[in-house]
Amino acid sequence: MLTSNVFKTAAIQTVAVYILSLLSIANVSAADLTKGNIEKAMSEAYAKYKDLQEGANADYIPALAKVNPGIYGIAVVTTDGQVYSLGDIKSEVSIQSISKVFTLALVMEESGADAIYNNIGVDATGQVFNSIVAVEQNRGAEMNPLVNAGAITTTSMVQGTNYKQVWDKIIARYDQFAGRKLSVLDDIYKSEAATNQRNRAIASLMSAYGHIKSDPLEATDIYTKQCAVGVNAKDLATMAATLANMGKNPVSGKQVIKADNVPEILAIMATAGLYDDSGKWLYKTGLPAKSGVGGGIIAVSPGKFGIAVISPPLDKAGNSVRAQKTIEYISNALGGNPYNVTSR
Ligand code: DON
Repeated sequence: MLTSNVFKTAAIQTVAVYILSLLSIANVSAADLTKGNIEKAMSEAYAKYKDLQEGANADYIPALAKVNPGIYGIAVVTTDGQVYSLGDIKSEVSIQSISKVFTLALVMEESGADAIYNNIGVDATGQVFNSIVAVEQNRGAEMNPLVNAGAITTTSMVQGTNYKQVWDKIIARYDQFAGRKLSVLDDIYKSEAATNQRNRAIASLMSAYGHIKSDPLEATDIYTKQCAVGVNAKDLATMAATLANMGKNPVSGKQVIKADNVPEILAIMATAGLYDDSGKWLYKTGLPAKSGVGGGIIAVSPGKFGIAVISPPLDKAGNSVRAQKTIEYISNALGGNPYNVTSR
């Protein structure tokens, strides 16, 4: 009799522990993304890094050197549509290389993921983002859509019969990702267009190797314009959250791209989103991300949230110093690393 009671008690305890462990898994994936937890993580990160002054504005595009290095804006948008922002979220900076992700999304939508895989590639180049050596090494193959050669090629693959048609499609899709009408920062566009000889050379080379699908100089110009689109931290976080939510903007509720290609887009971001430092970044956060020389970084915690930080001073690899640290802090505090899960 005593033995059977002991067994019953042990069985009840085992069931109770199992139910509690299920509840704690549920807590990690959903309840952690409460208003209180998100705001706490954001304000701790802001306090920790607001006085950090490492890095320097990009200056190879002259207008970028003139942007206020003190801009510091943070935004988190969850896949259930909560929106949080902190710091300077009014100021817009140019989206720069972060745009590459969204033109890539458009081309995959129109032509399928294989078109990118076959014409550009999905491997890290191991070279700087505007490397000509990387193009030469493999005759324009074995690249990825997030370095300049691959990105200009991606832009050349947007379907359209003329400049205007292609541009209108690109900006319309960016608008849907951000959930508002975006526009080009004209001073940045003009400044880069006057100094982008290197990108024009890269495009001509990619064209010579047969990868560019339109006039290479026109593709470079459209690419330059897409890089000059003005965004604030909230815009970027909403764009990232749309990827976190399998292509559906969680604020507008609109399906911006079909879900099918999102895993491939995120894989490319994980491989090459922070250029030469993509490995270090993935090691610390586990997050697919993309940086731009305007000072923005977006990161995606699949199924959970998109996060973006704007702070113009960059490190040597071309990634915003404060944005990297801030995103790492907030995401890790919120359990954003997709590789860090609770065992069963
Ligand atoms: O083509 C360029 O050089 C710039 N429009 C974009 C480069 C960029 O953002 C690289 N980011 N880390």
